[in-house]
Amino acid sequence: MKIQVSRNGPYIVTGGVPLMTMEISYDDESDCRSWRKVEEYPLQEEYALCRCGHSKNKPYCDGTHEKVHFDGTETAGNEPYLQSPTLIRGPELELTDYEGLCVHARFCMRAGGIWNLTEQSNVPSARDTAVEEACNCPSGRLVLRDRKTGETIEPVLERSVVVVENPARSEHGPLWVRGGIPVESADGRTYTIRNRVTLCRCGRSWNKPFCDGNHIGW
Ligand code: FES
Repeated sequence: MKIQVSRNGPYIVTGGVPLMTMEISYDDESDCRSWRKVEEYPLQEEYALCRCGHSKNKPYCDGTHEKVHFDGTETAGNEPYLQSPTLIRGPELELTDYEGLCVHARFCMRAGGIWNLTEQSNVPSARDTAVEEACNCPSGRLVLRDRKTGETIEPVLERSVVVVENPARSEHGPLWVRGGIPVESADGRTYTIRNRVTLCRCGRSWNKPFCDGNHIGW
């Protein structure tokens, strides 16, 4: 399985990667709580996903990127954007926060926020909520480590691409690439392989091919 970024064009997804749409679900207090699968697309060996934001056949590319002269220049470095995260050390958990990767899914805001919960992680309920929030973060902005075992706490994710929708806020989110599928730049560099990354599909990110939250208002 692989995702190839094409120059000023779509993502070429190969290897029979499952594709689906998921929505962010809210609880009675209007907090983001879970993911809900709302559509599954027919399994294809290869397909092209729009990254310019202008296709009439989303999530697939329909060639409109050429008509709109889409500038898809990749501005993400291979590593640098991952090298200066904020670290928050709580008694039992350590939170690594790559703020520039925020896609505004907002799972991290509940119960005082994951930053406070990490600082109170000797309290079992705070620890559990922090873990749930980090594992729901699609972009991998928020990553927790267990300070006793030293192990990173990652969700188990089916290898797939998820079109993120947030209808309660009228937001069309990024493409959530799950399970460590390699993403290769148009000039052949493989980006750091992570369990979860989010790719821009509106064409507005300043950190292409990754989402930087600029789809708000798209
Ligand atoms: S990338 Fe082809 S239509 Fe958007």
